Amino acid sequence: MPDSIKKAAKIIEKSRKVVALTGAGISIASGIPPFRGKGGIWERFDPMEVAHIQSFVQNPKKVWDLLIREMKDILDRALPNSAHLGLYELEKLGRLEAIITQNVDGLHQKANSSLVIEFHGNFAWQRCMDCGEMLPTAQVSLEILPPLCQCGGVLRPDCVFFGEAIPSDALEKSNVLAATCDCMIVAGTSALVYPAASLPGIAKAAGAAIIEINPEPTHLSLGVADVSIQEDAGMALKKIIGQMGL
Ligand code: APR
Repeated sequence: MPDSIKKAAKIIEKSRKVVALTGAGISIASGIPPFRGKGGIWERFDPMEVAHIQSFVQNPKKVWDLLIREMKDILDRALPNSAHLGLYELEKLGRLEAIITQNVDGLHQKANSSLVIEFHGNFAWQRCMDCGEMLPTAQVSLEILPPLCQCGGVLRPDCVFFGEAIPSDALEKSNVLAATCDCMIVAGTSALVYPAASLPGIAKAAGAAIIEINPEPTHLSLGVADVSIQEDAGMALKKIIGQMGL
């Protein structure tokens, strides 16, 4: 068993407050493409054209047509994979207090994780740009794009577009968790998008041990991460749990 897995298991076992920060990489096995790297969505689209709030306001039909429709199809079918289930297992073992996720796929909740902070919102809901009415995405017809609210306003996913602020409640809770945890598991994120990417640094500065799980190195791997496990998140979590003498 690689030393990194053994070291990670030891750190998690002796920590009193473990928090996870997850990104798109942990949902690839559920059929959801990442944003960057092999098969990444931003290899096909310019995020500033299809995922910036100004682009959406200027041409909601185009954004719905190019990006959101495809996301809806994929997310409707997606199920949790071993990475989501592994984090739930850690929670059941009393070894994980909360998950901060950048993902909008709702798969941590589907895996029964109880405390999930959605840093970039959740695609399961649509919000009217005029009256603020919330509607489950599953109930929104895509016959006409962009879909409209009964009031005539344009519906938009309840996710954070580039150019928008992080929901204040999610931001505040995440900062407190990062500053008070003594271990942060960072899984499946390129750690390139702020302010989410600042959370591991906040935890590190507060004295937490950082465990990174990512097949590719990131800027966290050298210097911030105490343990860098270059493996699939699902596999790595399974091995870590297997190593824990609980
Ligand atoms: N297990 C763990 N990590 C993986 C796996 C895997 N099986 N496969 C890929 N990865 C890693 C990649 O190496 C990459 O570093 O997951 C990361 C995915 O990076 P991104 O696609 O950039 O996703 P993320 O970091 O979540 O993006 C942050 O950017 O576009 C915005 O709002 C969007 O929330 C998103 C944010």
